[in-house]
Amino acid sequence: MPGRYLVTAALPYANGPLHVGHAIGAYIPADVYCRFLRLRGEDVLYICGSDEHGTPISVTADKEGITPQQVVDKYHAIMVKSFTDLGVKFDNFSRTTKKIHYKLSQDFFLKILEKGFIYEKTVERPYCSQCKRFLPDRYVKGVCPKCEAKDQRGDQCEKCGKQLEPHELIEPYCSICRNRPEQKATKHWFFKLSSFEQPLADWINGNSEREISGNLPSNARNFALGWIKEGLQDRAITRDISWGIPVPLKGAEGKVLYVWFDAPIGYISSTMEWAEKQGRPDEWKKFWASKDSRVVHFIGKDNIPFHIVIWPAVLMAQGEFNLPWQVASNEFLNLEGEKMSTSRGWVLWLQDAIDGLGADPLRYYLISTAPESHDSDFSLSEMQNKVNSELIGTLGNFINRVLTFIQEKNGGIVPKPGKFDAEDEKLVEVLKKIPESVGNPIEKFRMSSALASLIGVAQQGNIYFQNKEPWKKENNNTLFLCANLARNLAIAMAPFLPFSAEKTWSMLNLEGSVHEQKWENSGVLALEAGHKINKIATLYVKMEDDKVKEFEKKFLSKKKTEASEVKNMPEIDYEEFKKMDLRVGLIKEVKQHPNADKLLVLQVDLGPLGTRQLVGGIRNYPMESLPGRRIIVIANLKPAKIRGVESQGMLLAADEDGSPVLLTTDKNTKPGAKIL
Ligand code: 2FM
Ligand code: ZN
Repeated sequence: MPGRYLVTAALPYANGPLHVGHAIGAYIPADVYCRFLRLRGEDVLYICGSDEHGTPISVTADKEGITPQQVVDKYHAIMVKSFTDLGVKFDNFSRTTKKIHYKLSQDFFLKILEKGFIYEKTVERPYCSQCKRFLPDRYVKGVCPKCEAKDQRGDQCEKCGKQLEPHELIEPYCSICRNRPEQKATKHWFFKLSSFEQPLADWINGNSEREISGNLPSNARNFALGWIKEGLQDRAITRDISWGIPVPLKGAEGKVLYVWFDAPIGYISSTMEWAEKQGRPDEWKKFWASKDSRVVHFIGKDNIPFHIVIWPAVLMAQGEFNLPWQVASNEFLNLEGEKMSTSRGWVLWLQDAIDGLGADPLRYYLISTAPESHDSDFSLSEMQNKVNSELIGTLGNFINRVLTFIQEKNGGIVPKPGKFDAEDEKLVEVLKKIPESVGNPIEKFRMSSALASLIGVAQQGNIYFQNKEPWKKENNNTLFLCANLARNLAIAMAPFLPFSAEKTWSMLNLEGSVHEQKWENSGVLALEAGHKINKIATLYVKMEDDKVKEFEKKFLSKKKTEASEVKNMPEIDYEEFKKMDLRVGLIKEVKQHPNADKLLVLQVDLGPLGTRQLVGGIRNYPMESLPGRRIIVIANLKPAKIRGVESQGMLLAADEDGSPVLLTTDKNTKPGAKIL
């Protein structure tokens, strides 16, 4: 009997585009798993949606000067496009700002309240008197009380993973204005996490006896058991911000549900939305409220505390829905040997990678280097090597070589085989084992091993074809078996490389879609003699050095310099800064520098400091546009000769991609006014 699986990938925050680390952290492995389960004929749903609440969104809105709604609309659309282009195929991709999600989240809250696992309490929380607001989660930063890492946010320490409450930070400061917050009383609703220590420990340990995959990944298990051992504290599940789902109680005006309370409920509300779209509104119950269904969550390691402790406890408290059956959590993907960081700009955006490197080659490389049990690294040169030698040189080569040979030497017809010899039989054995050799590791969430097995099969095919030398003498067995192997590889490729698997299927001139086949049929000889194949098309394009360099330059090297500038920026004391005498200057006259095309010589009025001559590289401004403009000048810089002309100070300009942009004043300030 087919099993039933409800598979989810962590709902991504709609506060920025996705990067390649996100893609391999959850969405691609879950996609591989679901595509595999569908081929195996299981009843499977792949559910996700964008996480549109919480301070990640409102902080981005503050930064970009737009509303939270505008932020989520913008990034929801961007993410949907990237998923589609990457071939990540959800059965439903919802949004946590939908009505159905509001209602379910509020119902969850009320049900748990009614069962006595939520209580109200007045507590002190950080409040910024300058910004006139409470500072939940990402609005407050400070030193982590556990590992003493600096500049950690009020919800979770990025360094040690500790779950935090904003008031626990040492030396807190407002992340908007850097003011030190005061503590102010406010009413909140708390979830009795402390009541679930034992049930959670039982669940986590019991989980290890499950069939198939057996264990929760050890990173997740150890983290959760360690935390339970430390003792679980009750947690506030409401916040004092305006963006979010209102707390459905009288007297709770202005309070919203904590984003991590509502987000995982999104897995269920998105399934309900899917059921409504099918016209069978109760169909979601098969997946969430029936004992024969397995809920599988795919997440990145920073989400472990929520999925292995808090979310199961919330589900236990609510009582009506299935607990997770498995939580597959990945470690992090570094970029060219360094930790990715969106704030420092050291990231490879998913859309840039798909557009520049191609969806299937990108999936191939990411899966082969997936951070399944430890952090791994995205390296463009490694990708080039792997794609050229494995994906193209081994897999693509086998398919193209065999099909081209049949097309050119046998009129596109699969020949009738005769009696198999020992080598033929050996290949038949390899072919028959494909469903297990590739499928078993997928079942165990070891996608990179599964992909390596697939390449191993193609490699056997290449060796066989090469040994048989069908170009020397007629060899119907070889062509027949290789055509069959190409067909079976197409099925086995489908979970990993959905686009090129489909292309192979159509080159083989087979009916329907490769994604509608049966996984078991990747192990049988189903292609019959006499079958005519289609025209041959190129499956993959080789990653040539010049293209790779161009990509590197555009998306990696410039960012790397900028990111390392941020990381290695030396700090100076205020005393040092104070030594600089910055003044407003009024440009009086401008001349071309006699010895340098790119330089101008300016006479600048500095009020009480008199008129100064400055040499500046601002030839991108038309000379006549400069007199009468106010600029900012370092007035006490030692005079120096620049290409033979004395400069008595320096003007300030911003660097916009190599082109200077003058700094000026907001108002017509007096020449010589001091910059404070
Ligand atoms: O870390 C994140 O991006 C969160 N938005 C993940 C939420 S997963 C789930 F609970 F919805
Ligand atoms: Zn502030």
